[in-house]
Amino acid sequence: EKGGYEHFMLKEIFEQPQTIYDCLRGRLDANAGTITMAGIQQYADQLIKANRIVMIACGTSWHAGLVAEYIFEELCRINVEVEYASEFRYRNPVINEGDVIIAISQSGETADTLVAIETAKAKGAIILGVVNVVGSSIARASHGGAYTHAGPEIGVASTKAFTAQLAVLTMMALKIAHIKGSISEERYRLLLKEMEEVPEKVAIALKQNDHIKQLADKYKDARDFLYLGRGYNFPVALEGALKLKEISYIHAEGYPAAEMKHGPIALVDENLPVVFVATKDAYHEKVVSNMQEIKARKGKVISVITEGDTTSTELSLDTMVIPETDEILAPMINVVPLQLLAYYIGVAKGLDVDKPRNLAKSVTVE
Ligand code: M6R
Repeated sequence: EKGGYEHFMLKEIFEQPQTIYDCLRGRLDANAGTITMAGIQQYADQLIKANRIVMIACGTSWHAGLVAEYIFEELCRINVEVEYASEFRYRNPVINEGDVIIAISQSGETADTLVAIETAKAKGAIILGVVNVVGSSIARASHGGAYTHAGPEIGVASTKAFTAQLAVLTMMALKIAHIKGSISEERYRLLLKEMEEVPEKVAIALKQNDHIKQLADKYKDARDFLYLGRGYNFPVALEGALKLKEISYIHAEGYPAAEMKHGPIALVDENLPVVFVATKDAYHEKVVSNMQEIKARKGKVISVITEGDTTSTELSLDTMVIPETDEILAPMINVVPLQLLAYYIGVAKGLDVDKPRNLAKSVTVE
């Protein structure tokens, strides 16, 4: 049932080219320039007129929401807020008419997310679910939405569900932006074409497997890790850190690369690995100067970089190389080496990576 892989987590990491492909199939047609999503189309009017969109989720799904915040604001010009379900549900949140809520959940059974949307629904909000498990409680409580079609995810650490969430949320943003007219036809067409190439690029990223396994042996004894990124890559840094914590029990923190100067930089010394998500995008130059700051303080710079980026290579002790794509789509590819790094560090430490201690696959109690 593990398909020849040693663990479900590794199997699910390697399934991603296929799961992203499945998620796009029947929906995105780059030649025709169309995105077909019936459960979104139905609420297109409300989305276009929305005063704001609120993403509600927990854990890895919350990270997908953060990436979606950057994408929706950029493409759709709609104000987006991203909320931890557990905080949102208890603080008597302001919900106005015309607010659209997007609930993101792999299992569709996370108690906090479920109650949060039920509360918002009672106050008149429209709820769209981005859910993996068909027929789950969150799917049923939503007015509309779109399934991620990633197939069953057995490993407690979410991997393929995350990239499928990103694929669905990106398609939603593209669809809404196109109907609204907030994206140029040219950029829309280009992003659709680039999107179709994502499964293949994830497959290329997976070729770093053996190299990352070696990196894991090299860094497995670190006590702490710092993960840094900016823009679309900031949530990827958070996700990389969460994966490492869950699977290897190494303390890790994700931070926006520029914010590190406001505190965490005090942690940097010759023992601290600092993982930069530093692929080529509008922020790249800024990230490079953040790398220089870490290197100057003797931190061990490890970076996820775009093929051919010699500047970042020179600044790094080790690199994980990724094929180039549009910055909006990069998180789906950039997270893959970080999943592998966490996996192999966990394995190198002899831990039960599919069932980390203290964790449940879905958190059905608050
Ligand atoms: O099923 P959900 O997406 O609602 O679950 C949310 C979190 O519990 C989940 O993402 C958790 O953080 C994972 N263990 C992360 O790998």
